[in-house]
Amino acid sequence: MCGIVGYVGKQKVLPILINGLKRMEYRGYDSAGVAVIAKNKLWVKKRKGKIRDLEMDLNEEGISSTIGLGHTRWATHGAPSQLNAHPHVDCQKKIAVVHNGIIENYVQLKSRLQSEGHHFNSETDSEILAHLIEMFYKGDMGFAIREALQLIEGTFGVLVISTHEPEKIFGARRGSPMVVGIGEGETLIASDGAALVEHTRNVIHLEDDEMAIADAQGIQVKTLQDKKVIKAVEKISYDLSRIQKGGYDHFMLKEIFEQPETIHDSMRGRLLLEAGNAKLGGLEGCLDRLRHSYRLIITACGTSWHAGLIGEYLIEKLAQIPVEVEYASEFRYRNPVITRVDTVLAITQSGETADTLAAVREARQKGALALGMCNVVGSTIARETDAGVYLHAGPEIGVASTKAFTSQVITLALIALVLGRMGTLSSEDGQTLSQELSLLPEKIRSILKQKDLIKSIAEKIIPHQNALYLGRGFNYPVALEGALKMKEISYIHAEGYPAAEMKHGPIALIDENMPVIFIAVKDPVYDKVVNNIEEVKARGGWVIAIVSEGDEEISRLCDHTIPIPHTLQPLSPILTVIPLQLLAYYTAVMKGCNVDQPRNLAKSVTVE
Ligand code: AGP
Ligand code: GLU
Repeated sequence: MCGIVGYVGKQKVLPILINGLKRMEYRGYDSAGVAVIAKNKLWVKKRKGKIRDLEMDLNEEGISSTIGLGHTRWATHGAPSQLNAHPHVDCQKKIAVVHNGIIENYVQLKSRLQSEGHHFNSETDSEILAHLIEMFYKGDMGFAIREALQLIEGTFGVLVISTHEPEKIFGARRGSPMVVGIGEGETLIASDGAALVEHTRNVIHLEDDEMAIADAQGIQVKTLQDKKVIKAVEKISYDLSRIQKGGYDHFMLKEIFEQPETIHDSMRGRLLLEAGNAKLGGLEGCLDRLRHSYRLIITACGTSWHAGLIGEYLIEKLAQIPVEVEYASEFRYRNPVITRVDTVLAITQSGETADTLAAVREARQKGALALGMCNVVGSTIARETDAGVYLHAGPEIGVASTKAFTSQVITLALIALVLGRMGTLSSEDGQTLSQELSLLPEKIRSILKQKDLIKSIAEKIIPHQNALYLGRGFNYPVALEGALKMKEISYIHAEGYPAAEMKHGPIALIDENMPVIFIAVKDPVYDKVVNNIEEVKARGGWVIAIVSEGDEEISRLCDHTIPIPHTLQPLSPILTVIPLQLLAYYTAVMKGCNVDQPRNLAKSVTVE
């Protein structure tokens, strides 16, 4: 999720580590740290907060070192704090580790290590890596690291240094990027090319379950099964800003294309395919109270509110618990009727939205169970709610929310599944749903391959000042979300409506200047949506439709169609929103708008 950088060579390492971490600041982080080897001792400095705060802490003790590693943390397990910051060390303080990713089986491994006498200082999953390596170390660091990593379930981008082998730095990856920079008498290893490019453009990209063993003379690459690997040296571009966006033109585009991975991360370690259920550790202590709530009130703002609307459909359909969805800004001021038998769920990517925080406080004031669904570990709302679930979508930099939205909907589907299976949802239905959830990342990938078609349709929208988005059922909130994306980054006045509502007024807007975007996938309300499309066509409107693959009939009716794979109706928003995100993105880019920082907008609205 966040940034790691390591160096071994002839230069003083600390300035290189600090500068490398600064090159990755754009990714968002909550704490930072470094470890170097000086006078054959490990020297570790880490703290919550910004890299510049860490820099102020550095003293001359480690300055002469020429080998070290650094980390910027995006917390997933354990709130941001000095103790939870990386690097983490073993009991003898001879091994230092920095880690990007999530270790799903850390609880079991940690208790095994504790039973063998290891002492832990942090709440993180990552710290177990230092102790596992210590446990396996019998004189060969490469062996100890390989043995340790083979026990890990989950993802890692990990760097290791040790006074056992003080001239070497070890790097390995699974599901988290790692790139090795080959310099003149020096080697760098990082999670992001941005941290290397000022030292060298000659790089090697590690693949999953590969490990690099580097010293000042160069590197050797092996698999975790100790098989040597020959790697091609590639050249990376000097364009730092482009590298920081992972080669994409904008953070928003990078985050749209990350969604196959981020929705997988939101399900990682939670989806129980065999049982047709899910496991949400953060809710375990209050599931019973939640299940037997008189009603569930979802409160949020903006895109998160749209996700909440889908949550209403999901939880009522799968768990038959009454759900209401409220704008947090309204909820907080209208003295809502809430009692101890209610549960309030706040959905918020940032965990800092002022209106949503106030709604949480109002709910707690009135005795309700207050839950949070946040993307930022240790954020204010995460800390002020009784319990909650993290999205694990990684830092979202683009102001227009994309990957957080799909992760919110995925997490709501997991909550609905858990609650449903505590009630009337059968194991067969649970298995069908969980199986389909596991197929969504690949289905998103197939939609993303249609980016050129979507871009060509966006070109037709550019000349217009208005647009109408229409959907029904689970896809009515997606119509709202698609309209919000379009209005907030391209400044076109786009409105979302329930498709049936069109005849109660908005149909007066239909003419050849009004692009109408329909979500018209094959589902129980498909025929009704087709009727609405015919109503628009009969009045000279032109129609863009998100349709199910293979639906030729509707293609004859619409002006432009974007086919997407079929899925279960309750999960369709996770697929139907993808083309709408891209439609807004390409429209805004072609209009020359500032996609990542749209005018007048902030990523987190911490004011009322
Ligand atoms: C969505 O694209 C906007 N950036 C905005 O509506 C956002 O969803 C809203 O401000 C809520 O933010 P939160 O999820 O961090 O609470
Ligand atoms: N899961 C680790 C932690 O919470 C690493 C997070 C990261 O990738 O920065 O510390």
